[in-house]
Amino acid sequence: MVSESAALHFTIEPTSNPTPADHRADLIANPAFGRVFTDHMAIVKYTEGRGWHDARITARKPLTLDPAASVLHYAQEIFEGMKAYRTEGGGIATFRPEENARRFRASAERMAMADLPQEIFMQAVDELVKIDQDWVPTGEGKSLYLRPFMIATEVFLGVKPASEYLFIVIACPVGAYFGSGCVSVWVSEDYTRAAPGGTGAAKCGGNYAASLVAQRGSKMHGCDQVLFLDSREQRFVEEMGGMNVMFLRDDNTLVTPPLTGTILPGITRDAILQLAKDRGLKIEQTPLEIDEIFAGAASGRYKEAFACGTAAVISPIGALRRTGGEAVFGDGKTPGEVSLAIKKALTDIQAGKTNDAHGWIHAIT
Ligand code: PLP
Ligand code: COI
Repeated sequence: MVSESAALHFTIEPTSNPTPADHRADLIANPAFGRVFTDHMAIVKYTEGRGWHDARITARKPLTLDPAASVLHYAQEIFEGMKAYRTEGGGIATFRPEENARRFRASAERMAMADLPQEIFMQAVDELVKIDQDWVPTGEGKSLYLRPFMIATEVFLGVKPASEYLFIVIACPVGAYFGSGCVSVWVSEDYTRAAPGGTGAAKCGGNYAASLVAQRGSKMHGCDQVLFLDSREQRFVEEMGGMNVMFLRDDNTLVTPPLTGTILPGITRDAILQLAKDRGLKIEQTPLEIDEIFAGAASGRYKEAFACGTAAVISPIGALRRTGGEAVFGDGKTPGEVSLAIKKALTDIQAGKTNDAHGWIHAIT
């Protein structure tokens, strides 16, 4: 028997007040990350018993929420981060959106939220990109960042999974998350991000709220980002506040911590491991002792390090710092050759400049 599609009909309600083209051109010329938004949003409601309904693309506007909406109290919230790119052929495409949809479902399950079928996730993203296609910037490193998210809206203060949710997608034109060059990273000694059995592998807002004090601490130490260690022993590298982390060893091996439930299974991480294999590099997903990284950076055994994720793409790490020590990669300023080559391989696929051998591109227009 053929299973029924979960797709919904989306009502399209174009805004009556679109941003004038010249103002839009100014806004997308050099956007700071996450500050400029498009004219529309996708919104779908969920009610227990009725399921997902009332799907629309509508003018982007503030939400009206009851002050007792459960998201405001118990933080039932999950999100995704993905990008739409202008491609060489003049179209617009997203990168592995099915993986974002799959991870969204996994996050929802962990947070006891409503299951959102992949079809609805894909429809919402595609329809929003279509209506706001003029907001997709052109130029190297530029894209339309898409932020699908779900919040619990039931009006109830009892602690239980909510029976009502909103699924929303908003979009913002973006350039590079970091400037060019290398980032510096503070190894957190006071805070961890996730514990075994916790929510580390889910993309829920609470994980980010809990990371902010450590992120602020990294700035106080003069660093751009924070690196978290495992919560049991504070001995093994986990990930950064919003990115996975990888190291290149002198035996041509790209090493990254394994997915044991405490780190986010990054889609960029997965793509990079594949692209590294394609280039003949060895890959290892193995626990990495922070002391070994510091010793290996000094001896030259660890030659390159980078952060990776949708927003960050591949951001070379110049140095890791902790109390009383520094691990410098290369000269600490110049991005590593292999990091740059993998970044180019990835961004060329995303921009449709090279053969999409793994079928990662999803054409929208
Ligand atoms: N780790 C965390 C905590 C993140 O927030 C992100 C960004 O989404 C990543 C890793 C990288 O994931 P992805 O490559 O799917 O964007
Ligand atoms: C992303 O890369 O999409 C992220 O979610 C990282 C950060 C902006 C939260």
